[in-house]
Amino acid sequence: MRFSDLTRRVGGKGADAWQIHYTAQERQRRGESVIILSIGQEMLETTPRLIIDSAFDSLNRGRHHYSDIGGEPQLRNALAKFASAQMGISISTSNCAVFAGAQNALFAASLCTLEEGDEAIIIEPYYATYPATFSAGGADVISVPTRPEDDFMLRAEAVLERITDRTRCIVINCPQNPAGVIYSNDCIDALVEVCQKQDIWLISDEVYSSLAAPNGFRSPASIPGAFERCITVSSVSKSHRMTGWRVGWIIADEPLIRHLFNLSVCMSYGLPMFIQDAAVTALEHSKDVSEKIRHEIDRKRTMAVGILNQINGIQVRGARVGMFVTFDVRKLGVSATEFAWKLLDDHQVAVLPCIAFGRSGAGILRMNIGESVSNLETACASINDLARTFAARTKNWICHFVDTLWIDGRTPNYPSLDDSSFSVIQQRIRKFSFAGSSFHSGFFTWRHPPNGGGWTNGPTTWSTAALAQDSSRSRWMVLPFVAGGLRRTRLGRRTAVHIWAGTVS
Ligand SMILES: Cc1ncc(COP(=O)(O)O)c(C=O)c1O
Repeated sequence: MRFSDLTRRVGGKGADAWQIHYTAQERQRRGESVIILSIGQEMLETTPRLIIDSAFDSLNRGRHHYSDIGGEPQLRNALAKFASAQMGISISTSNCAVFAGAQNALFAASLCTLEEGDEAIIIEPYYATYPATFSAGGADVISVPTRPEDDFMLRAEAVLERITDRTRCIVINCPQNPAGVIYSNDCIDALVEVCQKQDIWLISDEVYSSLAAPNGFRSPASIPGAFERCITVSSVSKSHRMTGWRVGWIIADEPLIRHLFNLSVCMSYGLPMFIQDAAVTALEHSKDVSEKIRHEIDRKRTMAVGILNQINGIQVRGARVGMFVTFDVRKLGVSATEFAWKLLDDHQVAVLPCIAFGRSGAGILRMNIGESVSNLETACASINDLARTFAARTKNWICHFVDTLWIDGRTPNYPSLDDSSFSVIQQRIRKFSFAGSSFHSGFFTWRHPPNGGGWTNGPTTWSTAALAQDSSRSRWMVLPFVAGGLRRTRLGRRTAVHIWAGTVS
């Protein structure tokens, strides 16, 4: 059997990257309990009711026939209005083309602008499908590194250095996935300028723009004179909790829209009418819907970043906007891929190693924050447990046994460390810390039967939780995930709590 060369290009590394995610999904389907944080969606939330109702209503009105291939007039009208408001320029319906999600729109943009011999510049860490998407038509993809130490901020010079006479497009994704950064206005200006001077397309993937604060993000197409050079791609996937509806679009100059239309004729022959009607409702209620989503995601990000940054050996990188928190595990002396597989195998939590998004992502993991707060807490507690396991492997982890304390589990279902036991632990650790040792966190382990039942003499499991000092170093506190960890563990009637104090350097 012979297959086209395209099959090789679209089946590259980007496809491998998702192995952890597919494995987690497979385990979940088999009935295992897995927290899947490896894909960017709000797993427990549904599309807002008024959008769902609008699709039903549309179906009941018989809107289920072939549709206008470039997008139903109502949707293109709504899009033109929406994009004009968002970009601050006047967009007409002839500048809008509708696709089955931003992914489909990116693929169409690639096929209409790139061919063999061309080069497409993408920025690391990039969205995992970019290499396959932009090499599909035969172009070479050139990736520009950024540094975790700079929170993955892009320097325009790094892009300019890679431009050759074969460069046909620069692809930016801002706000960015996975790292959650927004590039500076100066950087965007410089990219627009070079695209204008050297006849290069600027493809701007803006699927996360509604998650940025109002006026927190500037679309390149809104820069005076830049519109003809820009291909702006977006969708309702993240902004309206509509990942599965598959509605996205391109905003661009008319000649490109005409080519995109011809491609859509061969590729999809239009989107279902009732889906497009629902998208019209979504866009008409954008302000309320997207703002609510943004506030919720912001709240979860603040929580997750706060917890992860307190874990020794782990450092959050970027994570200012968007649906992900990216964190660095390099200090633990472990690769992000090993960390991710171990987290899945031992703790049933799926996150994605960012090496899938280019070499700049080495040592970095990406966690979706569109999950319930309790699942995020559990995931962070698991990350903490695993970080400590790896830290114990490294030479830099120095820990000292302080004491053993016996406590009684008091409440029948969810016994926890009661205040008095906890204050004894605090006092002992504090005493230890003031005995001349320098360390910045203490942790305790407790032993419990594996089935979570009463105390037995049988095999036991060790669990751990951390105490940290606040920034003034005057007060000890239990990190928020400790509560989650303890809640999940039924302490036995009589439980040994071993107190340690340690430092990761
Ligand atoms: C940066 C980026 N671009 C495009 C897409 C695809 O979005 P859609 O669901 O609209 O196809 C995603 C999805 O996660 C994304 O993160």
